[in-house]
Amino acid sequence: MSRFARHILQGVAVAALAAGGALAQDAADYRDFFEPLPALPPIPAGTSMTQEKIDLGLMLFFEPRISASGIISCATCHNPALGWTDRIPRATGHMGQVGERNTPTVLNSGFLDAQFWDGRVPDLEGQALGPIEADVEMAMSLDEAIERLTEFDVYREAFALAFPDDDDPIRAENVAKAIASFERTLNTPNSPFDRFLRGDVRALSPEQQRGMVAFVDYGCIACHNGPALSDSNFHRFELPGSKDEGRFLVTGDENDRFAFRTPTLRNVVLTYPYFNNGSVADLRDAINLMGQQMLGQDFEDDTLDDLVAFMHALTGEMPVVAIPSLP
Ligand code: HEC
Ligand code: HEC
Repeated sequence: MSRFARHILQGVAVAALAAGGALAQDAADYRDFFEPLPALPPIPAGTSMTQEKIDLGLMLFFEPRISASGIISCATCHNPALGWTDRIPRATGHMGQVGERNTPTVLNSGFLDAQFWDGRVPDLEGQALGPIEADVEMAMSLDEAIERLTEFDVYREAFALAFPDDDDPIRAENVAKAIASFERTLNTPNSPFDRFLRGDVRALSPEQQRGMVAFVDYGCIACHNGPALSDSNFHRFELPGSKDEGRFLVTGDENDRFAFRTPTLRNVVLTYPYFNNGSVADLRDAINLMGQQMLGQDFEDDTLDDLVAFMHALTGEMPVVAIPSLP
């Protein structure tokens, strides 16, 4: 039996107890449904996390000269001061073009097994080169990006240090590896929720504890599970007014039409506006829509308050990142 199926069965037992009178006798029992966020996500085979790679990845993340305009870096849209996203509905990139989708945070993205709203790549290495080339993002060919980096002594040295066994270290593949290594350090452990899961039952207010119980009992946890509260899977969700067909654009499978990857809920109070097109600004409204569409539930006001309070407990410690000094 999968770990998750076991959790569901335990959940049935707990719900039966609750129905017997004592309301979820002890929220602490619900700890079994969740996992605290580890300090680091899994590192895929074929790469390693060295300080040299992380340092290079940090520089590249903030490097605007790998964009055609010379003014857009990863950090333009994944802004550290804004929860590592941009807080606008849809991303604005090269020449002010507005893309189709909302910018997800890169915080804890190493815990997701599918990247992008449609999951078109599995891991951060596969993801990292896309935005450099995308016409609406940084709009630069990889060859040109590599050429620009090669002009700087500082980069020639940093790539050689990060990839010591490579005769030709300034290559696209290594750009991806360095950026991905840096991104895997952008995690937010020790949220009140994590402290609660580790045994500090006072880390969550009573309202937040009720929200956590509702999150399990109503079934949010069916999709928002695992350390990042995402199953990295795809679920149909139709936003009023949106024509984005989501996962269908990747697979061509009818079942995937309008399906999107479950986003992380870690730090969700910081990563507004919500959903694939950023059309919902308010967290309470977002949760209300989730209840209606995903669970066929119209929540009472109190339940919505509790769920919002629980979301506030998911904000962890932000990674401390020194802004690099670029050549
Ligand atoms: C113009 C704004 C913009 C720039 C510049 C940009 N991104 Fe993004 N990023 C986005 C948007 C929008 C998405 C979602 C696109 C989609 O799902 O189709 C995204 C998705 C991602 C994701 C996936 C996160 C998830 O939860 O699925 C990662 C990781 C990421 N970007 C990293 C980067 C890196 C690294 C760079 C620089 C090389 C970069 N981004 C540059 C806007 C931007
Ligand atoms: C069937 C799977 C499923 C269930 C059940 C579910 N969600 Fe979601 N959730 C998703 C998916 C998929 C998205 C992304 C939808 C989109 O933007 O296209 C999402 C998005 C969200 C968002 C917006 C996050 C962001 O960054 O844009 C919040 C908040 C959220 N869910 C909370 C909840 C809560 C609270 C519950 C329970 C009341 C719940 N969800 C139930 C799959 C689910």
